[in-house]
Amino acid sequence: MSEDTGEKVVELAKRRGYFFRSSSAYGGVGGFYTFGPQGAALKGNVEEAWRDRFAVGEGHMEIDAPTIMPEPVFEASGHLDTFDDMLVECPDCGESSRADHVVEDNTEYEDAESFPIPEVEEIVAEYELVCPECGAPLAGAAIEEFNLMFETQVGPGDGQPGYLRPETAQGIFVEFPRLKEYARGQLPFGVTQVGRAYRNEISPRRSIIRTREFTQAELELFVDPEGDGPDLSAVEDVPVRLYPASEQQAEEGDEVETTVGEAVADGTIADPWVAYFLGVAREWYESVGVDMDRFRFRQHLAGERAHYAADCWDAEGEVGGNWIELAGFAHRGDYDLSKHQAHSDERFTVFRQYDEPKTVERAAVDPDMSYLGPEFGGDAGDIVSGLEELAERDRAAFEDETVTVEIDGESHEIPVEKTGFAVEERTESGEHVVPHVIEPSFGVDRLVYTILEHAYREDEVDGEERTYLELDPEVAPTFVGVFPLQSDAELESEAEGIAASLRAEGLSVTYDDSGAIGRRYRRQDEVGTPFCVTVDYESREDSAVTLRERDSTDQVRLPIDDLPGTLSALREGDLEFGELSG
Ligand code: GAP
Repeated sequence: MSEDTGEKVVELAKRRGYFFRSSSAYGGVGGFYTFGPQGAALKGNVEEAWRDRFAVGEGHMEIDAPTIMPEPVFEASGHLDTFDDMLVECPDCGESSRADHVVEDNTEYEDAESFPIPEVEEIVAEYELVCPECGAPLAGAAIEEFNLMFETQVGPGDGQPGYLRPETAQGIFVEFPRLKEYARGQLPFGVTQVGRAYRNEISPRRSIIRTREFTQAELELFVDPEGDGPDLSAVEDVPVRLYPASEQQAEEGDEVETTVGEAVADGTIADPWVAYFLGVAREWYESVGVDMDRFRFRQHLAGERAHYAADCWDAEGEVGGNWIELAGFAHRGDYDLSKHQAHSDERFTVFRQYDEPKTVERAAVDPDMSYLGPEFGGDAGDIVSGLEELAERDRAAFEDETVTVEIDGESHEIPVEKTGFAVEERTESGEHVVPHVIEPSFGVDRLVYTILEHAYREDEVDGEERTYLELDPEVAPTFVGVFPLQSDAELESEAEGIAASLRAEGLSVTYDDSGAIGRRYRRQDEVGTPFCVTVDYESREDSAVTLRERDSTDQVRLPIDDLPGTLSALREGDLEFGELSG
């Protein structure tokens, strides 16, 4: 599909109420979009399908956390220090651009995001790259790190600094100590969340593909680092198109067509949990209408990975001739839970029971507070914590007459005899471990866009050009349109009655009596409504209506009484339109 199709999709989206720029009465602001009635319904259906598969279908819990979180969360998570993109400002017009995107859009480099800044500066100069806005040369312009988080103040006055979450994941990680209780401390367990995330993107672009406020559907699966992997039998035969890092770096590298089982067996996908989710995701994406000929999984190159990720594969969809990231499947290791444990007073571990109790040697301290108190005053508590931590980590430090403890960069000498240091034998029934995290993280807005572009069709009906969306009935915002054939009070009332009976069946129905019947069909075709029902004068005699299918435009006559059951069966996929006789 060409860029041209992208423009047509964006135009259709605005015309038919899928999405449009927000606050346009006030000039709008880049990177914010409103989902209109059709878009909100499509997005809601996609989110529901995601929940069915990844929360309910996998037996995981769902939570709903605040979108604003206090600063210490992001100090711990690393977002304050490292959640940056490369910003270059045009020396002429002042327009801000993402330097790595300027490089990727205008050179053969596809992964400039993973390059260090000096290398990007060199490429900008060597290729004489220019400002995308005004065409002025960018060579020599400084490239800087720009943190993507939106900051805010919580409460009046100076308040407390807070940030709009850049990923829903942190709302799950910080609640781990409580969530593990709900999971009865048993690994593996998963927690999901569908909600808004915020990133102050340098140059939001391509409608809802890169915005500053968007919806993520994330699953954080907590696993025992030494535990068994998943049962792969349900996904081992799922075909996958992979683009591993090694192939991206090879001179004549290419995508690999394989199956999930084979990719695990030959080591292409290192982690079986990641492989499991790629298989589940591939089937799920297909079920909501992503074209599998325009879909692949690409492994991140080492320099491209987020600060928390040990390995990561992206699900990518092709839109407008380019691959875009639809979801990331990251192995986050113990990064997040260890960081939150180190920065807070909570324990981000679970207790792993041994098969048999073990006798182990434990080094511990029992400090003499009558010495530490007068000697260190208010710092005595920190000294005790420092001694406890040192005893666990480095027994040799207690071998001399004094031991050195570092508190806030300052060294303190303590006589070992005052520390109560001792090594004891203990029988232990288990140990505390920091779980590892496997994270499938889906972007919902990009997926909505991809579904629309992959469903976009043009054809000719009765000598007239037609545009329609071949949306899957499971996600289509409107399932059936109901029309009276002509403007006639009796026909209208019959059609309204039918619309009401279909709504009562739980179907999403639109009633339309304005304009010629052909135009009403075209309207619903453009919205992607799979079926239309027309009530005509014959309906009174034969108690039947015309049911029309969107894609083929074929029509059949059906008894009114059969409509709810027939349409429900069509929606569930228990019946094909072709099985109905005309
Ligand atoms: N918790 C992991 C995480 O946030 P990510 O790859 O940064 O990973 C996950 O984001 C998904 O969120 C992406 O695959 C993409 O679909 C979506 N996403 C990220 N930034 C976005 C943006 N600015 N606009 C729309 N969607 C975005």
